[in-house]
Amino acid sequence: GWRTRYLYLFHGFWCQPAEIQSITTLHHHFRPNDSDIIIATIPKSGTTWLKALTFATVNRDLFPPSSKSHPLLSSNPHDLAPFFEYTVYGSHDRNPPDLSGFPEPRLFGTHIPFDGLPSSVKDSDCKVIYICRNPFDTFVSSWTFINKIKPESLPPLTLEEAFDMYCQGIIGFGPFWDHMLGYWNESKEKPHKVLFLKYEDLKGETERELKRIAEFLGCGFGEEEEERGMVESIVKLCSFEKMKELEVNKCGTFGRNFGNKHLFRKAEIGDWVNHFSPPMVERLSTVIEEKLGGSDSSPCSSS
Ligand code: PPS
Repeated sequence: GWRTRYLYLFHGFWCQPAEIQSITTLHHHFRPNDSDIIIATIPKSGTTWLKALTFATVNRDLFPPSSKSHPLLSSNPHDLAPFFEYTVYGSHDRNPPDLSGFPEPRLFGTHIPFDGLPSSVKDSDCKVIYICRNPFDTFVSSWTFINKIKPESLPPLTLEEAFDMYCQGIIGFGPFWDHMLGYWNESKEKPHKVLFLKYEDLKGETERELKRIAEFLGCGFGEEEEERGMVESIVKLCSFEKMKELEVNKCGTFGRNFGNKHLFRKAEIGDWVNHFSPPMVERLSTVIEEKLGGSDSSPCSSS
């Protein structure tokens, strides 16, 4: 398929030539600040949502979440927390971008696996928030997304082909199991450095998980803020229903000119049942068990 034809195994993970180029530029030029925050995910695991929640939380004094002029009402989260590999280092003119005017704390996003991050990032005090999602739903979300953004001239990527690749680990920034385990292990070793979240927990207990995020970032919610409904306001501002209906997310574009609207599909847990046949369930379950079942508490299972 067109998607695999352009994927290359680069330092143990799959990516496209343009990504290899921008990751190389990142390694050469990026100098982290201790106050930097990096949102790390494998695609379609809740990146957009986590970027929005983090942006709203760290900037809540500057931009109260109930404000009519909140940046999240007029900008897509990917513009407020740009990806290293598409936006920050995504232009190929070889000149590193000037990040001096970037508002602090600087928020970045990346799909790069933990091992593939620059050592300057790993060694600094900057913080990493990782979110993973059930591979069944992540697969369906990726497959539908790939077909929506593909060039019109190309035939659709069939479910069978995409699934076979996914189970072999061939997906952007995959294998998914290595991606999850890299951040999972680091979060166990350095809990002050990496916070490991799950999409399903964030959906089920949004306020509890948002408080964990704020605590981790050293800006926990105070009693007085909680009484004022600060946590609820942020959750509401970043909710799927709210974000999906914003003009900027209906009509705007991000990255390589993809429609923002494609970032908001269903946001459900378990939508995979509408796409998986029994043999597919068996195959992916086996892969998950083999690759992730042995880790102390599987990064895939919901807590
Ligand atoms: S990307 O391209 O990697 O940044 O995509 P990502 O944001 O990681 O994943 C997209 C899926 O997340 C759902 N989504 C949300 N869920 C909950 N709340 C909010 N605000 C939200 N925004 C996006 C989105 O619908 C995609 O999941 P699916 O299952 O395809 O609907």
